[in-house]
Amino acid sequence: MRAEKCLNIGDLERCARQRLPQPLFDYIQGGSDDEITLAANVTGFDRYALLPRYLRDVRDVDSSVAVLGSRLAWPLYLAPTGMTQMFHRDGEMAVARAAARSGVGYTLSTMGTTSIEDIGAVPDLPKMFQMYLLNDDSLNRAMVDRCRASAFDALCITVDCITAGNRERDIRSGLSVPPRLNLQSLGQFARRPEWCLNYLRGGAFRLPNIGDGNGDGNGGGDISTLASYFAQKMESNISWQHVEAIARQWQGPLAIKGLQSAQDATMAVEAGATAVIVSNHGGRQLDGSAASIDLLPAIADAIGGKAEIILDGGIRRGSHMVKALALGATACMTGRPYLYGLSAFGAAGVDRSLAILHSEFERTMALVGCRSVADLKAGTAMQGGAGA
Ligand code: FNR
Repeated sequence: MRAEKCLNIGDLERCARQRLPQPLFDYIQGGSDDEITLAANVTGFDRYALLPRYLRDVRDVDSSVAVLGSRLAWPLYLAPTGMTQMFHRDGEMAVARAAARSGVGYTLSTMGTTSIEDIGAVPDLPKMFQMYLLNDDSLNRAMVDRCRASAFDALCITVDCITAGNRERDIRSGLSVPPRLNLQSLGQFARRPEWCLNYLRGGAFRLPNIGDGNGDGNGGGDISTLASYFAQKMESNISWQHVEAIARQWQGPLAIKGLQSAQDATMAVEAGATAVIVSNHGGRQLDGSAASIDLLPAIADAIGGKAEIILDGGIRRGSHMVKALALGATACMTGRPYLYGLSAFGAAGVDRSLAILHSEFERTMALVGCRSVADLKAGTAMQGGAGA
């Protein structure tokens, strides 16, 4: 199947499943423990009903939005995902350039396989860097300095990884990072020769945003080795003082990613956050917490317009974005949909994932009778909303 033949994100997901070796597909797809939160993120949107208003002029829908100091053509940030070159050798660069073409924002991960400097050089792209706080403060400070030197627009600090989530799919599959041929993986990789050739041509696997930036300083090995490497490097007692220190050093738009409670959201704003990213890490960390969309109304209430809100997790349709904005989000963030596209078709697949979500979003806006994101914010699109 070609990328253009994919009609929705589900089609891209099926293509990624066919194309990737099973351990890698499972790494993208999986969540922690029983994957209850992972599933709830997607199905949660179904509990909210849209309420269309008709006989309005919706010929020109303007879906642009200002968030974290940048203007987005439509209200989406691509989420930070680590080790993106494992899925396709063009990795983060392909994703970032596709985001620029579509007019949305891109978030580079601390665990990215592309450097802050390389992403910094992509023109016309609202850029955010996602920080995991490391226990070596000079490395934290260096990351912030590098982001400033590379003209990043915003920083986000992910706070929900104080310890590694229990991802049993990865333990069972024996996934190694970087992928390695061994007796267990041979059969799985042999069934995906196209991915193998592509990956082997891709060159060295690096994590240039931490460590020395020119070796594969990630310790290699299987995912549990990676987890313990992480555990060694990560700050295990991250506090609001850390957040305040980063905010002071950065002096620019700052988001906190991974908050779920209204109290924490309020504290984030007090600590200097410009935006709160409501997220459960795509169901990959704490299992048994609520769907992201269910957390949104209380957080929007608590923040009361004092900061921006980005809703992350479970977005598979443009209508999900419309619901998030109508419930109080300023913008949305999405991870797996673009990874499916990248894994299946490289840059063309990322383009396709964005084209699908964008057209679904604008069509849904028109069908609910909203010409702009401001119309959505008035709550007109939701059943039981304020009406207009
Ligand atoms: C992630 N996520 C993530 N988050 C983060 O802050 N830093 C990271 O390095 C990663 N890495 C990562 C890898 C992979 C393969 C996935 C699928 C996810 C979480 C990500 O930013 C986002 O919160 C979720 O992907 C959102 O859920 P959806 O859109 O995938 O349903």
